[in-house]
Amino acid sequence: MSKLRVTTLAGNDGDIRIGVTINRPQREVRLRHSDFLRHCIIVGTTGSGKSTTAGVIASQLSKFGIVIILDWYGEFPQILDKISHKYTHYRASEHSKIPVPSRIESIINILEEVLDLTPPQSYILRRVLKGGLTSFKEVLHAVDEFEVTARWMIESKYALLRKLGTLFSDQYVNYLGSTYERGLVDMLKRSSRKPMVVDLSVFEEYGARKFMALLVLRLLEEFKSQHLITDKVFVIVDESHNILTSSKSLLERMMAEVRKLNIGITLITQSPALLSYRIISNSNIKIIHALKSRDDVDVITRSVGSGVAVDKVLPRLGVGEVVVDAPSLASPVLVKVNYA
Ligand SMILES: Nc1ncnc2c1ncn2[C@@H]1O[C@H](COP(=O)(O)OP(=O)(O)OP(=O)(O)O)[C@@H](O)[C@H]1O
Ligand SMILES: [Mg+2]
Repeated sequence: MSKLRVTTLAGNDGDIRIGVTINRPQREVRLRHSDFLRHCIIVGTTGSGKSTTAGVIASQLSKFGIVIILDWYGEFPQILDKISHKYTHYRASEHSKIPVPSRIESIINILEEVLDLTPPQSYILRRVLKGGLTSFKEVLHAVDEFEVTARWMIESKYALLRKLGTLFSDQYVNYLGSTYERGLVDMLKRSSRKPMVVDLSVFEEYGARKFMALLVLRLLEEFKSQHLITDKVFVIVDESHNILTSSKSLLERMMAEVRKLNIGITLITQSPALLSYRIISNSNIKIIHALKSRDDVDVITRSVGSGVAVDKVLPRLGVGEVVVDAPSLASPVLVKVNYA
């Protein structure tokens, strides 16, 4: 089927087993867990097996640190049940609130990104929140009370209120803690040795899911930089194109900056053509499932090691078949991910 050469599998000394080579002689392909700290992308068309591959990796990575899966559709418990049965499941609720970051600037940046705020809307939000925030319940009220006189400010204020209203509905606002509590840190520590699935599908609106995902990412960065967590952290972001929509993306910035904190990010997406050059070049491991669109194939082909016919192979891969490129491999290899 392919012209890929699989002669040297230096990656066999790795500790994360991906599967076996499709070409004969069949050989096991392993990656190093430490390479996941220098980020990974898993791409492929719908139904090609991306989330399952991520589950296979997550259950093995948890031997080496804390693994958090941002689960956009709430499907990872089912996937992990087939692999190892071991995971902790976090669903935000009134009884298990999502803590919020301690720095007000972080909250403003996340709101700017999720709600795509204009400069006047950001200005009003900053003014309202500058004294700090005790509860998200107050935000809508505080913006409403904010006195404006100029006409452009009035319009911006009401536009801001409408945008905030989609995030802080009566239901969702009760899922948010006031400032961050020890609860999540303790839960993360307890979940070492098994992946922790954060179920974003609790929120119907995509904007609210994105908000929660960014809050968790930012919290992890804070917990690590304040040494509240000392273990390595691996974050897996499924359906990441939903979180990477903004030009001021927190996730993209984190990929460039968090290596020194021992946080590794794995992004999963069906649309690699939407990934920026910065993200692709910041990802040391590339796991590529079947791709059909020419744009996607071209972007990925350019990003992996040369000398192989990746562009010919990608459209013909079956479910669970991948091309893997990683620093520990001499050249990209064709692998069948084994999750049974
Ligand atoms: N390595 C594999 N071997 C055999 N079957 C697999 C493998 N990986 C995935 N599958 C099966 O293929 C189907 C799709 O898998 P999965 O949900 O992981 O794909 P996906 O790329 O994440 O899809 P989507 O784009 O819809 O999120 C599932 O039924 C799954 O059990
Ligand atoms: Mg999926």
